[in-house]
Amino acid sequence: EKGGFDWFMRKEIFEQPKAIADTLLGRYSARGELVLDEIRISPETLRRIDKIVIIGCGTAHYAGMVAKYAIEHWVRIPCEVELASEFRYRDPIVNPQTLCVAISQSGETADTLQAIRHAREQGSHVIAICNTNGSTIPRESDAVIYTHAGPEIGVASTKGFTTQLVACYLLGLYLAQIRGMKYGDEIRDVMDELQQLPAKVQELLDHASTVYELAHQLADQEDYIFLGRHVGYPAALEGALKLKEIAYLHSEGFAAGELKHGPIAIINPDMPVFVIVPPQGRDQLHDKVVSNIQEVRARGARTIVLAEQGDEHVVQFADTVIGLPTVSTLLQPVLAVVPLQLFACEVATALGNDVDQPRNLAKSVTVE
Ligand code: M6R
Repeated sequence: EKGGFDWFMRKEIFEQPKAIADTLLGRYSARGELVLDEIRISPETLRRIDKIVIIGCGTAHYAGMVAKYAIEHWVRIPCEVELASEFRYRDPIVNPQTLCVAISQSGETADTLQAIRHAREQGSHVIAICNTNGSTIPRESDAVIYTHAGPEIGVASTKGFTTQLVACYLLGLYLAQIRGMKYGDEIRDVMDELQQLPAKVQELLDHASTVYELAHQLADQEDYIFLGRHVGYPAALEGALKLKEIAYLHSEGFAAGELKHGPIAIINPDMPVFVIVPPQGRDQLHDKVVSNIQEVRARGARTIVLAEQGDEHVVQFADTVIGLPTVSTLLQPVLAVVPLQLFACEVATALGNDVDQPRNLAKSVTVE
């Protein structure tokens, strides 16, 4: 049932090209339009929305952080991301003009369920992004976009996360489409890019052995740092969470720009620091992150740099470079997270841990 893999988690990492392709399937018409029939909230209602609140826990929350950047860029509606466990207890401002997006792989997470119940009591519309047909969260939502990842057995979410990202992009593009947007061409370009993601993820998986070697080189390290900016920041948080969950190692993700505001003080010589570098583009983001690599390198850190293939600027500051296929910034987390998943899985295996059922964790957390 593990299809020749040692763990469900590793199998699920390798299933991502198919999971992503299945999540895109049938959602793009030949005329170049997005088709999300499952959104049973009328276009009129969606045009009146003036705020989006995205709710989730753990990995789903990180997917929501990426969604905020994408949705605000494409749709120009203010978007908040909130941990489901915090949402209900702070008297949040939600009303019938608020669209609440609840992200949950299992559809059974109690914190997320309570949060949407609260949102609906305030008259807010709720769209679930979920991987489990007929589970509670979709049943209690106005609409659901299913991720078609297939069952996720490993406690550490992998294909659940990348397909949540894809569903979030689809939702953002759909809202942009029905509200009319100034980036009309961009919708088509992004859809084309989304279709190319399965092949690009596959390319990364074909080079898994490089990541495994790195895992064996670093397996005696006990503290890890993950850095990213923009959508690379939630990808860094997700990389750190994977390592915590299954390798039980101390790992922290930071927004790279925050380094000098405190976290740089903990950098020790030889400490592995993973840095996710945005694609080389028009803005200065790429160069800023390259400076951040220099800053940690200067303190003796061992730098593992995830950057666009052929990015010459990072080579001199990197102990290891992991090349990512070219993709636009907003979609990059789908690629960047794959080597981080492989890394965590391999380190945990090397340490002799039960990767699929890590200590203290349950696949779905049905108590608040
Ligand atoms: O099923 P859900 O997406 O609602 O689960 C949310 C979190 O409990 C989940 O993502 C958790 O953080 C995973 N173990 C991450 O790998």
